[in-house]
Amino acid sequence: MTVQSVIKDENVVWHQHTVTKEIRSDLKKQKPAVLWFTGLSGAGKSTIAGALESKLAELGYHTYLLDGDNVRHGLCKDLGFSDHDRQENIRRIGELAKLMADAGLIVLSAFISPHRAERQMVRELLPEGEFLEVFVNTSLDECEKRDPKGLYKKARAGEIKHFTGIDSEYQQPLNPEIDLPAGTQSIEVLVEQCLEELKVRSII
Ligand code: ADX
Repeated sequence: MTVQSVIKDENVVWHQHTVTKEIRSDLKKQKPAVLWFTGLSGAGKSTIAGALESKLAELGYHTYLLDGDNVRHGLCKDLGFSDHDRQENIRRIGELAKLMADAGLIVLSAFISPHRAERQMVRELLPEGEFLEVFVNTSLDECEKRDPKGLYKKARAGEIKHFTGIDSEYQQPLNPEIDLPAGTQSIEVLVEQCLEELKVRSII
């Protein structure tokens, strides 16, 4: 199966509503964007995205943080960690992030999203410049040392199958908009780096 969406019923027609993305974002006095955090489990995606969201909220921006572990309790609770399920996980989140950007929000998403093809698929859902890939660049060694949920230990013991970095592949971004040295720098420094990039790109 490809990652392209297929409309199953040709009688389903797109309806253009009167209140547009532009009106919604103008009301919020901001430019919508999707900050797509990718990296290994334990790399710091949710922590950094959460700290950045707090800063943005303090500055008066309207945001929403989509987080892998949380979304897998609801929207994606029927999905596991096979390649097919991860692909479907990212497809759903991508579509959701697109709707949220359409609502005028600055969306922060924190998912391992291990495959380049799926990240590229989400990039292509959005207008040029609206999707920013944020690589939470923490080495496998460091993530395994941190092991905040004890999952690497279980994966090494063979108790969890298809664990990213152990027996399931993680494809590093080749050209991310933001590359965060999250194995060595403090959260404050990394958040500052993100804020600077958002300023350079006139998103904030
Ligand atoms: S993704 O690969 O589909 O993008 P996602 O970010 O939603 O993954 O979920 C990752 C989280 O699920 C991890 O942080 C970890 O807590 C948990 N998890 C459980 N099983 C696995 C597994 N086999 N591989 C990776 N993460 C897993």
